[in-house]
Amino acid sequence: MTTQHAPVSVLGLGSMGIALARALLRAGVPTTVWNRTSERARPLAGEGARVAPGLEAAVAASDLVIVCLRDHDAVREVLGGLDPSAYEGRVVVNLSSSTPGEGRASAAWAADQGITYLNGAIMVPTMLIGDPEALILYSGNQVAFDRAQDRLRPLAGLTTHLGSDPGQAALYDVAMLEIFFASMTSFLHATAMVTASGITAREFLPFAQQMAALGGTVMEGLAADVDVHQFDGTEDTLEMELAALDHIVHTSDEAGLDGTLARHMRDLVRRAVDAGHGADAFSRVVEMVRHQP
Ligand SMILES: NC(=O)c1ccc[n+]([C@@H]2O[C@H](COP(=O)([O-])OP(=O)(O)OC[C@H]3O[C@@H](n4cnc5c(N)ncnc54)[C@H](OP(=O)(O)O)[C@@H]3O)[C@@H](O)[C@H]2O)c1
Repeated sequence: MTTQHAPVSVLGLGSMGIALARALLRAGVPTTVWNRTSERARPLAGEGARVAPGLEAAVAASDLVIVCLRDHDAVREVLGGLDPSAYEGRVVVNLSSSTPGEGRASAAWAADQGITYLNGAIMVPTMLIGDPEALILYSGNQVAFDRAQDRLRPLAGLTTHLGSDPGQAALYDVAMLEIFFASMTSFLHATAMVTASGITAREFLPFAQQMAALGGTVMEGLAADVDVHQFDGTEDTLEMELAALDHIVHTSDEAGLDGTLARHMRDLVRRAVDAGHGADAFSRVVEMVRHQP
């Protein structure tokens, strides 16, 4: 049997666990599945998965065990249900989302049990699992990653180990999700403003997309400023940006919308200006976030 076709077990068949199992099956990997609620495994049986009769059999079936449950409490509860000897010779990869602290706690718990354990964070929705552009981040036990990485590739073309801190995958996960949710929320608030004037969301969409793409470019300058702790305004100044942010708040108010997000952005900049940083660049905002009033 080649490494590529060595068996893999998937514990947890929520929508993500099912997507992971399907990607393995598509890649020709002999795949054993288990879920607390056993009916959820039924469709996969018809697609070639071996449905384990119980957790112990699922773990015994493969030397690579992927676990994808709602959260890390559930993972520790499930994995802790077996004697630690059940995990001997196995790598357990936990792809359930968490916070950095939870990620570290799970890794410490696994180390106590003698389990060779790796944290991962899935950065794409279910429909992109298996895609060459899909990203899954890993961190923690390098040996576990080195042993598993080739066999994890059917799940996502972009597979990155971020370092020895087991919390780092979750840290990047929450940081990236903040960017995602803030962008989506600001898009929806902006859409509420334009639709209040009879413009459709579709009409506005290409303009929104252009601005979102610009955001990606602007981040390069922000990151450079943050790393050298240098916030001098050249092309932009906070004083000028405060006026633009005030316009957003007023337009939102005139349309009778919840302008909390716009107000929050405006207030961060206003605090910087009031503190004498009006001539600085937008990157100065990082200091306002770091030092609460
Ligand atoms: N769905 C996505 O697009 C997506 C994207 C990125 C990351 N993720 C992450 O992937 C993980 C799974 O997501 P999902 O969408 O598959 O969630 P889901 O559809 O809600 O499924 C949750 C899974 O966890 C199991 N579970 C929950 N509590 C349990 C417990 N105490 N003991 C045993 N099993 C338990 C459920 O088993 P039962 O069927 O028995 O309830 C089910 O298999 C989450 O951490 C999520 O944040 C998901």
